[in-house]
Amino acid sequence: MIRVLFACLGNICRSPMAEAIFLDLIKKDRLTEYITVDSAGTGSWHMGEEPHQETKEILTNNNISWKGLVARQVDASDVNQFDYIIAMDDQNKHDLLQLFGASQQPIIIAKLMDFVNQPEKSNIPDPYYTGNFSDTYQLVLEGCQQLLQFIKEKHSIS
Ligand code: 4NP
Repeated sequence: MIRVLFACLGNICRSPMAEAIFLDLIKKDRLTEYITVDSAGTGSWHMGEEPHQETKEILTNNNISWKGLVARQVDASDVNQFDYIIAMDDQNKHDLLQLFGASQQPIIIAKLMDFVNQPEKSNIPDPYYTGNFSDTYQLVLEGCQQLLQFIKEKHSIS
């Protein structure tokens, strides 16, 4: 099983969006028995909450389920539970590397946009501050599609 964790700051906007989109792609590709997905935030403010109202709206408008998504904080032990830990921006990645410290396993800790060729942006803008959920949605969708392609090729899954 290949285990993927998406991480952002609050776990109510970008990373739950990525989790929902990625799960949708995996389901459409019939890969749920090979790949699992989760999300978490480096901050603790929103633990136990559903995604942000506008994240829920844009997912619903795109026929993607957000059912069951509940915010949690990244834990140091996550480094042992996942094969890919995918940050939304440089700050998230920095915070993850600090939290995991020397205990990093031979796993991939990267940014979502690292999987996109010539990305429009290297960080996913935080719509909690920009207010632009549709711009973020498009970038997250593109990133998730390319990440899934990368995983399928690297692990010879089809
Ligand atoms: P996210 O956005 O990291 O994409 O979930 C944020 C949500 C909440 C906060 C910051 C970012 N906050 O400070 O409460």
